[in-house]
Amino acid sequence: MDFQPMAYLDWVREHALSPRIRFNLAASAVPERDPSSLPPVSSPSSATARLAAYYNMPEEMFLTVGGTSSAIYVICAALLSPGDVAIVETPTYEPLRAVPESLGARVIRVPRPHESAYSLDWDRLEALVARDRPRLVVLSDYHNPSGVGLASEDLVRLARLAHAADFRVFLDTVYLDFCDGPVRCPARLSPRFIVGSSLTKVYGLGSLRFGWVVTMDRAVGLRLRRAHDHMMVVHARPSEEAAERALAAGEDLRAEAWALAREAMPIVARWVDETPGIDWVPPAAGVFAFPRLPRGTDARALVDLLEERYETLAAPGNFFDAPGYLRIGVGRGAEVVREGLARISEALARLVGSNR
Ligand SMILES: Cc1ncc(COP(=O)(O)O)c(C=O)c1O
Repeated sequence: MDFQPMAYLDWVREHALSPRIRFNLAASAVPERDPSSLPPVSSPSSATARLAAYYNMPEEMFLTVGGTSSAIYVICAALLSPGDVAIVETPTYEPLRAVPESLGARVIRVPRPHESAYSLDWDRLEALVARDRPRLVVLSDYHNPSGVGLASEDLVRLARLAHAADFRVFLDTVYLDFCDGPVRCPARLSPRFIVGSSLTKVYGLGSLRFGWVVTMDRAVGLRLRRAHDHMMVVHARPSEEAAERALAAGEDLRAEAWALAREAMPIVARWVDETPGIDWVPPAAGVFAFPRLPRGTDARALVDLLEERYETLAAPGNFFDAPGYLRIGVGRGAEVVREGLARISEALARLVGSNR
């Protein structure tokens, strides 16, 4: 097995955690929370029982895993054999492409273009399905990097196509609980769907490494469990206990995430409006946006300059297969966003000046 390096994860470790960065717009989550601050539960049961109640799905359909990262691996390892075709969205979060590739799958990309507001390119997807007979289609919802959601009609159409052409759909929903209204789990829509998620992004509990996989298809559920038995067997008990408390307090934690986004995202909207050459598709919810930079700007060069001279960081679109874009996270709050964006404007002006 040839495990590819993950350029984005290497960059995060090397740059995004540096104490030299005062205005960090590179994060995709709310600030990290201390698990010991979670209120106790009055009648303890189990994290899986809480998950089932929270998402209103039967308990036996959940498998708890080590974060969404493990969900990605377990799902791909359980469903893909070398030579199988996996159709993966582009742009995307790098592991969604790299894990199937490392497992020997032939990865083919389906666009979610900025021009069509990051919805699925259905003509392309249907043509690829007919031509390449995929075993798995891989999508994020909400989409990383754009924060845009898949429309419910698209999910229904996807379920029908998956049934007719005999493939499965892996939906990475780690950002979906940023949604307004009650939490929803798209695994309920079709036994063809396998959903992976975690407490990292919306709940600020990445340190727990608590995630899950859900499917209504029992045979697939069994394959997932068998794959997991080759990795972790059981989840870490202290993490399960804290996850149970987090899920019991889930609605309060979601409300905090909402308040953060509601305060900080309008600052990004104003900046996009006021900055010549920049446009965006506003995210459906959540704590990041993915504006398109002025024509000809290389986001990597911009980010290197931001880090070197402006104590500021954002995630360059290059890591998501979109070099002319910048992912801007607002999780550190309004003040950091305001100052960080002002510095991005300065760096952009300098970069454009030096390119003349
Ligand atoms: C789409 C997506 N999936 C999975 C992950 C990793 O999540 P976790 O911390 O739950 O492993 C990330 C983190 O950035 C992500 O953006």
